[in-house]
Amino acid sequence: MRTLVVDHPLVAHKLTALRDETTDTPTFRRLADQLVTLLAYEATRDVRVRETEVTTPVATTHGVTLSTPKPLVVPILRAGLGMLEGMLRLLPTAEVGFLGMVRNELTLEASTYAERLPDDLSGRQCYVLDPMLATGGTLAAAIRFLTDRGADQIITICLLAAPEGVARVEAELAGTPVPVTVVTAAVDEKLNEKGYIVPGLGDAGDRLYGSAGS
Ligand code: URA
Repeated sequence: MRTLVVDHPLVAHKLTALRDETTDTPTFRRLADQLVTLLAYEATRDVRVRETEVTTPVATTHGVTLSTPKPLVVPILRAGLGMLEGMLRLLPTAEVGFLGMVRNELTLEASTYAERLPDDLSGRQCYVLDPMLATGGTLAAAIRFLTDRGADQIITICLLAAPEGVARVEAELAGTPVPVTVVTAAVDEKLNEKGYIVPGLGDAGDRLYGSAGS
């Protein structure tokens, strides 16, 4: 597994504002959206393309276009939904599938409660959106779900990661032949006893959507 921490002053600037406890929900949503687009620029560096010809008003030349099957973007509900628009801004023709995963707050284990994905993901490049890579349980389960259906490359975009989560995903996927990359704005210090990233930014779902249903 490869972990890519995007080192860019605008990424750091937006992350700092997201961390700020006084940032209100509308501002948080807008900043998260913008940060995802910046992370997506790096995350799509290896998006599959094929060569094509294009005729400009002046001449015909070589270019590239996205390969088919198109990349599949998979936000993990609920908080991953807040990252979807930022991702689709760069990949407007991508297909979108949904995976609902919930974390048991006592055991911190993840389970699937909803899915809307093609049965066969053979040969698909999948971009998984999950704002917080905390314990790693949810992300490891989501990646396993996709590779079990045949996905052959996984790129995950997380706003923030904890070292424990990165290590767990890496350990759980050891031996998987499918390449996995985690793209994030920062790997923070640690998890606290409640499974929150420290210093982190709090509960990403609550900050994006308010605390209804949590
Ligand atoms: N989920 C969050 O939303 N925040 C954390 O810090 C950890 C998990």
